[in-house]
Amino acid sequence: MSFRTTTCGALRAADAGKTVTLAGWVDTVRDHGGLIFIDLRDRYGLTQCVFDPEDSREAWDAAQSCRGEYVVQVTGRVEERSAETKNPKMATGDIEVRASSVAILNRAAPPPFPLDDREAAAVSEDLRLEHRYLDLRRRGMIDALTLRHALLHTAREYLDGNGFLEIETPILTKSTPEGARDYLVPSRVVPGAFFALPQAPQQYKQLLMVAGVDRYMQIARCFRDEDLRADRQPEFTQIDLEMSFIDEEDILSLTDGLIAKLMETAGLPVPELPLPRMTWREAQERFGSDKPDLRFGMEITDLGDVFAATQFKVFRRALDAGGVLKAINVKGGSPKCSIKLVEEDWTGEAKAAGLGGLAYIRVQEDGTWKSPIVKFFTDGERAGLQAKLDMAPGDLVLFGADQKEKVLPFLGRIRLAAAELTGAIDRNLFRFTWITEFPLFERNDEGRLASVHHPFTAPMAEDVSKLDTALEEVRARAYDIVLNGTELGGGSIRIHDPALQEKMFQVLGLPEEEIADRFGHLLKAFRYGAPPHGGLALGADRLVMLLAGKSSIRDVIAFPKTQKAMDLMMKAPAKVDAKQLRDIHIRTVVPE
Ligand code: AMO
Ligand code: AMP
Repeated sequence: MSFRTTTCGALRAADAGKTVTLAGWVDTVRDHGGLIFIDLRDRYGLTQCVFDPEDSREAWDAAQSCRGEYVVQVTGRVEERSAETKNPKMATGDIEVRASSVAILNRAAPPPFPLDDREAAAVSEDLRLEHRYLDLRRRGMIDALTLRHALLHTAREYLDGNGFLEIETPILTKSTPEGARDYLVPSRVVPGAFFALPQAPQQYKQLLMVAGVDRYMQIARCFRDEDLRADRQPEFTQIDLEMSFIDEEDILSLTDGLIAKLMETAGLPVPELPLPRMTWREAQERFGSDKPDLRFGMEITDLGDVFAATQFKVFRRALDAGGVLKAINVKGGSPKCSIKLVEEDWTGEAKAAGLGGLAYIRVQEDGTWKSPIVKFFTDGERAGLQAKLDMAPGDLVLFGADQKEKVLPFLGRIRLAAAELTGAIDRNLFRFTWITEFPLFERNDEGRLASVHHPFTAPMAEDVSKLDTALEEVRARAYDIVLNGTELGGGSIRIHDPALQEKMFQVLGLPEEEIADRFGHLLKAFRYGAPPHGGLALGADRLVMLLAGKSSIRDVIAFPKTQKAMDLMMKAPAKVDAKQLRDIHIRTVVPE
């Protein structure tokens, strides 16, 4: 006889009368006087098993000694439940198995926390991560991993159908710039030298295009030593792709098709294609962000024209200095945003962002405006404001007056916070958008020029001449795909001309020697005939997180790391013994 004849999720009313054998974990034991009920659980579901001393005294005795999480094998007859005992919430709720025998395959210590989705939410995440193998027994975790599998399978199938070759690229490699710190692996064979774990397979996939692979894909593991957040892990997965002889349109439309398939797989509404597109500039102007959440409006409105002749000194000063005056109208926000929130918290944020303060208007129930600043407005300005912002009782209008670079991101952040607070976000919506025409460069915190994406991204043809004159105005042939305010993926058309690539490294301030050392192989390869090419990578963990409706990528990764980049279950990272360190020519300088 086989170990089991069916799983715990499979039996239905039509199976009544069959003799079956199930194996799984004891989810619950209920002793109802004479009868014992055990819900048996496996990956596929739950099945209620009934033990009656009159059917088998031996099985009943064994059932009585069962505790939660014992591993057992149950044989019995499937019976349809009476109408009043059917459980419509359970897939197997129409039946139960009347047990004739049970074998206890393994006893189990009581788990340190309940393995139930609702109760687990209150358990410390560290405790769950330390016992992840138990946490993964929860229905919610199994469902998340199942969805993850299905989505990655869909991606593979779709890209295979479009002629992509799946090619594995090395994990032990050389540093490639994606903007984070590298994880390093010391070499035993070459004393003092290190491999870097890939932050992305970026250079390999470009070199595969030089090799003529034409269409590459990989479900690629990436490693980045950076500060962690809910949507960032030190080790994560990309759906990575690269194509030759294409332009932006090819990649965007291919990805649109992939997104549609992924949504279908997740059982979610398939968006109309093509997915919306907007330039980076437009996203900044309307939403103050390069990853706008389009599930709600509350767009940033320019008031420069309404207040062109204003005498209110805060607005006047900003406009005279070449700055902007912008506002958002938080619909129904006045009762929900307290005086403290607006005048202390948000005003404090405004000041931290370099603005002088945060002017506001509360529209009261009788339609009158409560605000420290409206007394400075003319009738014309009031009318203009009313018309542009469609102000109604209960609304809260927030102003930002200063340089555009300060005002837009600030209002963008407040827009999100206000939407959360006022419940303006419909959690059932999935709003995708492409963001195109990113700037090629940005200034990092130290004021140094850096690539917004990475230094292999091509400039827009009409901006190439500005590489010598106005670097900050150069736009990139780069695109990001954004879902509900989260950056899901991004990519670009690459530079394939070795001279332009070399120039890019120079513009970024890399000394010749470093260019040769770090990127000599790439520049060399480009001299042997590199095709025009480009690609993209989707963050697989973020994709699954959003489609599964989770708020952390840790909830869709089997064995994630904590915010401190540690694996609490394996207890990694860990010390190694002195001999191992000697072998790899390493001496640590951490005080004992
Ligand atoms: P990028 O750095 O934008 O591009 O990464 C692509 C996508 O990967 C996801 N991602 C992460 N997910 C979880 N944890 C992290 N620490 C993390 N970092 C990034 C995001 C992101 O949009 N080589 C380029 C792609 C290309 O140009 O083809 C790259 O890696 O969802
Ligand atoms: P003040 O005259 O500096 O007290 O400012 C008058 C009002 O304008 C206060 O409500 C400030 O919070 C607000 N305010 C000051 N500077 C700015 C600015 N740059 N943008 C928007 N509001 C501001």
